[in-house]
Amino acid sequence: MPSRRRFLSAASLAAAGLALAPIAACSREAAAPSAGAGAAPPHAAHPGPLISRTIPSTGETVPAIGAGTSGSYEIALDSPDFARLQDAVRVFFDGGATLFDTSPNYSTADAVLGALLAAGGWRDRCFLATKIAADDRAAMERQWAESQRRLQTDHVELLQVHNLRALDIAWPYAQQLKAAGATRYIGLTHYLESGHAPLVAAMRARRPDFVQVNYSVNAPQAAQTVLPVAQELGIAVLINRAFDDGKLFARVQDLTLPGWADDVGVTSWSHLFLKFAISHPAVTAVIPATGRPDRQADQLRAGTGPLLSAAQQAELVAQFA
Ligand SMILES: NC(=O)c1ccc[n+]([C@@H]2O[C@H](COP(=O)([O-])OP(=O)(O)OC[C@H]3O[C@@H](n4cnc5c(N)ncnc54)[C@H](OP(=O)(O)O)[C@@H]3O)[C@@H](O)[C@H]2O)c1
Repeated sequence: MPSRRRFLSAASLAAAGLALAPIAACSREAAAPSAGAGAAPPHAAHPGPLISRTIPSTGETVPAIGAGTSGSYEIALDSPDFARLQDAVRVFFDGGATLFDTSPNYSTADAVLGALLAAGGWRDRCFLATKIAADDRAAMERQWAESQRRLQTDHVELLQVHNLRALDIAWPYAQQLKAAGATRYIGLTHYLESGHAPLVAAMRARRPDFVQVNYSVNAPQAAQTVLPVAQELGIAVLINRAFDDGKLFARVQDLTLPGWADDVGVTSWSHLFLKFAISHPAVTAVIPATGRPDRQADQLRAGTGPLLSAAQQAELVAQFA
């Protein structure tokens, strides 16, 4: 991956109406002032590149802030929303992020993401994760063919069995696709606490490269279930629903951030929820969804600066659980 591509494009951020000062600070080029002369950008005390994490099965690294497409990318290809998503994706890649998670059962999201990656020339930089979500082998084969067509690629970086669906059929198929070079990694996903026990059993039985699970300040159970087993077995972890599908924002609309937020470079609840997720040592990347360029920029800032201490994480769980 060419390192120059990790550097911010001031033009693209300007087009999105954004200033991403902490991430710009990782550029070889001086960051343009984002406010009046001499004014410090928000949390400039914690500039730096996106935190990256190692995938245990290969040693490859990926940025700890990724993105998901559920809901936020389920738009019509020919709608004005497409241009907004183009700006969001440009912010994502220009900020140094690479990992996108999608699924064939997110209505139009695969086709939209495929079109965005092709139009922006971003496919080569993208760590692309999708899923198998069908009930029999013939349906899985049709679905994978359709995924390649919609995503405009003949391979992905990660292929996951969605919610353990038809696992006895899907897992051998995923292994076969990995052996054929159609995917570099294979994994398992779930998004509910009720799925953690079967997910742990499948992790022990199948030894996937990746597992994807829900983990948030108001649903922290994975820290007792899936995450320690992932550490024990050397399995990479993606975190979904870090905002509880957006519901957490309604809970904090009248709340101020904790007094220690500034110490860890946190200036928004979005930062805090994402930092909570990546502060667990088992976590490889969090995959929040947003279709808005300003929120995308904000999310990337959560991938810089200090992580939360165990005490800070416990305080958030006590507040929201
Ligand atoms: N079983 C599975 O495999 C599974 C299940 C669930 C999720 N996932 C994956 O995980 C990804 C993330 O999970 P998720 O999409 O369910 O939920 P999420 O990331 O917890 O929340 C996404 C929602 O939060 C909203 N949002 C983002 N930033 C915001 C802000 N600053 N203020 C207010 N609202 C904000 C987004 O709306 P806007 O677009 O309007 O910003 C979107 O509706 C999914 O996209 C998918 O890739 C996988």
